Amino acid sequence: MLTVGVLGCGLMGSGIAQVCAQAGHRTVVREVDEALVEKGLGRIRAFLDAGVARGKTTPAARDATLANLTGTTDVADVADADVVVEAIVENLDAKREMLAALERVVRPDALIASNTSSLCITEMAASMEHPERFLGLHFFSPVPVMKLVEVIRGLATGDDAYRRGMDFAATLGKDPVTAPDRPGFIVNRLLIPYLLDAIRAYESGVGTIEDIDKGMQMGCGHPMGPFTLLDFVGLDTTYYIANIMYEEFRDPQYAAPPLLRRMVAAGRLGRKSGRGFYTY
Ligand code: CAA
Repeated sequence: MLTVGVLGCGLMGSGIAQVCAQAGHRTVVREVDEALVEKGLGRIRAFLDAGVARGKTTPAARDATLANLTGTTDVADVADADVVVEAIVENLDAKREMLAALERVVRPDALIASNTSSLCITEMAASMEHPERFLGLHFFSPVPVMKLVEVIRGLATGDDAYRRGMDFAATLGKDPVTAPDRPGFIVNRLLIPYLLDAIRAYESGVGTIEDIDKGMQMGCGHPMGPFTLLDFVGLDTTYYIANIMYEEFRDPQYAAPPLLRRMVAAGRLGRKSGRGFYTY
């Protein structure tokens, strides 16, 4: 059993905190204010309750998970963590500030990971005092369901941190893969151009949104078609990652199609805003 700190209790942070607590790790999850702590913990409770209702978990296992979880607004509460996973907003400056605050309080031997989906691990580590103990651990949504974790080594990540990162992911029941510190790592490197291409296909009249979704779902066995997945991931998130990939590679396959940019501008962000390619 480890002590784990999770910074951020949004969609990803709450999922990460849940799987840590579920694995038996004492887990402290930090958000900026009480309301966000409560919202994040509420999301975890709702997922666990739904799991009980569906017979996926037992009331005892749910209660054991919740007993391993503590919410806080104070970074100092993760001071005795063996592992800290950062899952705050996707903004380099905010993450660097968070890492600096974290390094002031954690033990010298604590492993520090970021769940970034788009930022450069080497760049995040550059302002750290001990970049050798830092790496990327990229989880997938919904975190309690998706088995994959991408383990990303920055230029400064030490061998020990890399091994500990792989081992930690395994303690969570996840199946880790090693991914390069390049925009998109492995999964988004392939997923983002696919999603952008689906929008281009729709824009050029290949089919309706429903038919393109049905095509990929029924024809290729994908659990969701591309537009359902875009709404699920968030159009703003997709746009943000695409722009970072385009910035780095200057390859048109990563360029956001006009419709995506306009939908983000209009606030049609997918499930989170109640409307994306579909209405919720
Ligand atoms: N407790 C326990 N298990 C639960 C659960 C709960 N409350 N809710 C769902 N599950 C599990 C169940 O084990 C279920 O498995 P079974 O088939 O064995 O029952 C599985 O989740 C599927 O659940 P549902 O049947 O309720 O829902 P679904 O079939 O509609 O699937 C989904 C939902 C898992 C989201 C599925 O649609 C899916 O896999 N979609 C694709 C998700 C995806 O691609 N995610 C990656 C996004 S990219 C990303 O995250 C990276 C990034 O950087 C952008």
